Amino acid sequence: MIRELKEIAIRDHVPILSDDGLELVFALIRDNEVETVLEIGTAIGYSAISMASLGVSVDTIERADDMIVEAEKHVRTYDTNHMVRLIYADALTYEELNGTYDMIFIDAAKAQYRRLFEKYEKHLNPRGIIVCDNLRFHDLKPENVSRHTRQLLKKIALFKTFLREHDGFETTFFDHVGDGMSVSRRRLS
Ligand SMILES: C[S@@+](CC[C@H](N)C(=O)[O-])C[C@H]1O[C@@H](n2cnc3c(N)ncnc32)[C@H](O)[C@@H]1O
Repeated sequence: MIRELKEIAIRDHVPILSDDGLELVFALIRDNEVETVLEIGTAIGYSAISMASLGVSVDTIERADDMIVEAEKHVRTYDTNHMVRLIYADALTYEELNGTYDMIFIDAAKAQYRRLFEKYEKHLNPRGIIVCDNLRFHDLKPENVSRHTRQLLKKIALFKTFLREHDGFETTFFDHVGDGMSVSRRRLS
């Protein structure tokens, strides 16, 4: 099931969480007894449906209409226990979220990570974790990329500094998992 979705993503050139990234997420779900997840960046639903297959409920936000159409199709086919709720919105401007979650998984536009982290941390349960992917950004080097990509690399570097220096959260970086992942949990006061 997960393999079928992965093949669709590869065929259609949709970027999805890597195998080792998914393994880390699965381990985090088990080790932290996660029951509820908020995902930002659904794409075609691969990671959301994969997480839901462990029995957790997943609310996932996607802003691209072509992606949400595909995700809807895949949720209907593969999410047989109805654990995934798709939210068609731009997460930066979405204001209708009421719930709190055990895990927030940010896998969206890289330039927005800090704003997304700050906007959604209030939706994290006290012992919850915030997981981010793409912090290595395919190991691109500033000297070999366009000006736009250089700006993105700079924003990612700034976001990592923001995480490192955050007073409220303690972050562990998994540089060689996925495309560079981080796991942040609230510091105990
Ligand atoms: C890397 S893909 C997500 C992959 C997915 N999590 C998986 O592993 O199967 C990133 C997705 O985030 C969406 N996205 C980017 N910025 C967003 C935002 N501000 N709000 C909602 N979706 C966003 C993009 O449209 C894209 O489909």
